[in-house]
Amino acid sequence: MTTVTLPQRVAEIGFIDQPVDPRLDLFEAIERLKGEKNAVLLAHYYQEPAIQDIADFIGDSLGLSRQAAATDAEIIVFAGVHFMAETAKILNPDKKVLLPDLNAGCSLADTCPADAFSEFCANHPDHLVMSYINCSAAVKALSDVICTSTNAEYLLRQIPESQPVIFAPDRNLGRWLIRQTGRDLVVWDGVCIVHETFSERKLIGLKVEYPEALVLAHPECEEAVLRHADYVGSTSGIRKFAARSEARTFIVATEEGILHQMRKDCPEKTFIPAPPESGCNCSQCPHMRLNTIEKLYNCLRYEQPEIMLEESVRERSLRPILRMMEMSTGVS
Ligand code: 13P
Ligand code: SF4
Repeated sequence: MTTVTLPQRVAEIGFIDQPVDPRLDLFEAIERLKGEKNAVLLAHYYQEPAIQDIADFIGDSLGLSRQAAATDAEIIVFAGVHFMAETAKILNPDKKVLLPDLNAGCSLADTCPADAFSEFCANHPDHLVMSYINCSAAVKALSDVICTSTNAEYLLRQIPESQPVIFAPDRNLGRWLIRQTGRDLVVWDGVCIVHETFSERKLIGLKVEYPEALVLAHPECEEAVLRHADYVGSTSGIRKFAARSEARTFIVATEEGILHQMRKDCPEKTFIPAPPESGCNCSQCPHMRLNTIEKLYNCLRYEQPEIMLEESVRERSLRPILRMMEMSTGVS
């Protein structure tokens, strides 16, 4: 009989599928392992509430990249999706970076394969390439500067008007940037399956039902939704806007995981998730939600699955990330 080793099994299915004792206090066990192993747990707002509650840092893509760049922990456990953990690895080649489920990809990043993108860039040789952080390391390696939804407009405004720019991979964020800045960008035709699902028709219905509510939307949403928004911004921007606003009711058009922190920040305010066109749970990101607290515990315990990167790709993808960091020091 051939024995399958743990790393082989992880490579096969993308996570550790060892059963977790249901009597175990996972919060206590994860805290203990973090201390013993000098590990830090970074979590995105789209993670399930239990993971957000045990994280050392919760944030948007920019905030988490900054935390990853600054940490002196030996192990980074990234509760998010693959491109986020990969960015942490690009910034920390000597640290172990773990992702609870390696299958946690990103539908938007998947719309932009590196070989097709390389050809696209070659067809626009005089263009500067600005890529949204939701892309693979191979696409980052083809880019001049990376951005996130927090700093995209700020970075674009620093690039001289005379410089033609390719923006990839999110067409909705790209078109929003065109409307914000009046720039004529060449936009890659990518989209996120979660943000394209919000229904303008149902949103209008909700606005009629809650006329006093403000609409907060992520720029990955389609223009039909964004045109009804009182605020458009990143997950951390949406969170901050709601906390500072005098309004009491908000309709939120982004992955509903963000509502957990918004309700904790302002328990007296009402947050309503924007409805998708169908009656399904489509406003939960199926990739983000592959991570569970049990997989998180196993990943910390066995130090698997680990993000691995070819050094030449890492070096080339580091440059545009560092450029983003340098160009956005004033952005919070
Ligand atoms: P933020 O950087 O705004 O958190 O967005 C990440 C993301 O994946 C949105 O879908
Ligand atoms: Fe990717 Fe969309 Fe999920 Fe964000 S919500 S991680 S863009 S699939």
